Amino acid sequence: MVNELKILKFPDPRLRTVASKVTKFDKSLEILANDMLELMYKENGIGLAATQVNHHIRLITIDISEERDSPMIFVNPEFEIINEDSHLSFEEGCLSVPGFNEEITRPDNIKLKWQDIKGEEHEDMPSGLLTVCIQHEIDHLEGKLMVDYVSPIKRERIKKKLTKMYAK
Ligand code: NI
Repeated sequence: MVNELKILKFPDPRLRTVASKVTKFDKSLEILANDMLELMYKENGIGLAATQVNHHIRLITIDISEERDSPMIFVNPEFEIINEDSHLSFEEGCLSVPGFNEEITRPDNIKLKWQDIKGEEHEDMPSGLLTVCIQHEIDHLEGKLMVDYVSPIKRERIKKKLTKMYAK
């Protein structure tokens, strides 16, 4: 790993940063993406947003394969909801909120646009787990977390538990 990456944990305020658009597709972007993939595999995560490693640019890594051999990199991802009535509920976890899973309902009929690591533009309609994962990671780029989908009381409880855990 070239960059010394560490995962920020809720309630770290840096997780609330809105990431800026990537405009330079250079070697350092590629290195950061590869380091993020390495960390994501090490931590056994299926997705990681640059925000979570304190790099506030619109960069995401994902691997939803069972075999952990299908890395994906999304730069400047954005989506548009095609069908507002179509939803998918999934029990989500997050490396920045360790030990908690929450059922979150998200639109499952979206059109996704992104750039690859070279800056080439792509468009697709992801389905299933990939739809969920990409929306979860795009939330991170907006400074939004899984805990924002639960009640304030529950959020406070998670915050207390995690703060206590880190203090140990
Ligand atoms: Ni997350």
